[in-house]
Amino acid sequence: MTTPNIELAELIEGLRQPEKTISPKYFYDERGSQLFEKITTLPEYYPTETELGIMRDNIDEIADLVGPQASLIEFGSGSSLKTRILLEHLHELAVYVPVDISEALLLESVHRLREDFPSVNIIPVVADFTRQFALPNPAVMPLRNIVYFPGSTIGNFIHDTALDLLKVMYEEAGEDGALLIGVDLQKDPAIIEAAYNDSAGVTAEFNLNMLRHLNREFGTDFNTDAFSHSAEYNRNKGRIELRLVSSEEQDISVGNEDFTIEEDEAILTEYSHKYTLGGFAEMAERAGFSVAKVWTDADALFSVQYCIRK
Ligand code: TRP
Repeated sequence: MTTPNIELAELIEGLRQPEKTISPKYFYDERGSQLFEKITTLPEYYPTETELGIMRDNIDEIADLVGPQASLIEFGSGSSLKTRILLEHLHELAVYVPVDISEALLLESVHRLREDFPSVNIIPVVADFTRQFALPNPAVMPLRNIVYFPGSTIGNFIHDTALDLLKVMYEEAGEDGALLIGVDLQKDPAIIEAAYNDSAGVTAEFNLNMLRHLNREFGTDFNTDAFSHSAEYNRNKGRIELRLVSSEEQDISVGNEDFTIEEDEAILTEYSHKYTLGGFAEMAERAGFSVAKVWTDADALFSVQYCIRK
């Protein structure tokens, strides 16, 4: 784990940018993780259901491609919902390594998985996967590593960082390894915007919760009541942009630094990039992968892709 000082310096660095920015990793305290789980069940939020459907429809083919005695390494495992389909169908899995930044959620999810899959060897790793982390040594040597990255989490990184992350995954996959990844696709912006502006206001609550998390963890003094949620689709960049907009001028202290947030000023909290199939294939190629197989739903809302090392 990283030290709080590095985290504080990173937070300050983000707030010094021309557009103030806070890392989306601060979404995920315990409440944030719960709110996120709720987002994935919202009627407007199509990605989760669609990805689950694609996995269910194609699981036999996926299991055959992965082959027996694989090590399944999941980046940002959360509740491991989609992974259950894999754990049920992969052949003689050597080990499942869920990696997540939220220790509470990770351990709770592993506890449930161990009950439901007593024969699967599960080794959880608490880590921020945007930084290098060590993989555990399982008792059974896997025949190959499968890096699993569902949920279109790749879309939450700007292209250079997404490329770097794919390169890390390429390394962790190792020789004969592969990447199984969920990638949300470009489509009618109205569908996308509705997904991030749900009528129940859960996404808004999730976004705002970040400031409460920071106030508690870093002793900052954001006036959370003055902020509101914004999620707009940027057509040129092919991405949803999440922001928190302050309705009043506020002075914030962060460590030894002071910042002024102007009235109507927005803080950027996250991007969610949507890819074309060609655009993703190109990025995967640059990281050393070739896209061996793409599965989509009937409306081409979402894709699951199997990438092998070139
Ligand atoms: N990666 C998914 C997406 O971009 C899930 C997600 C990450 C998300 N951060 C989010 C969903 C913030 C809503 C709001 O859709």
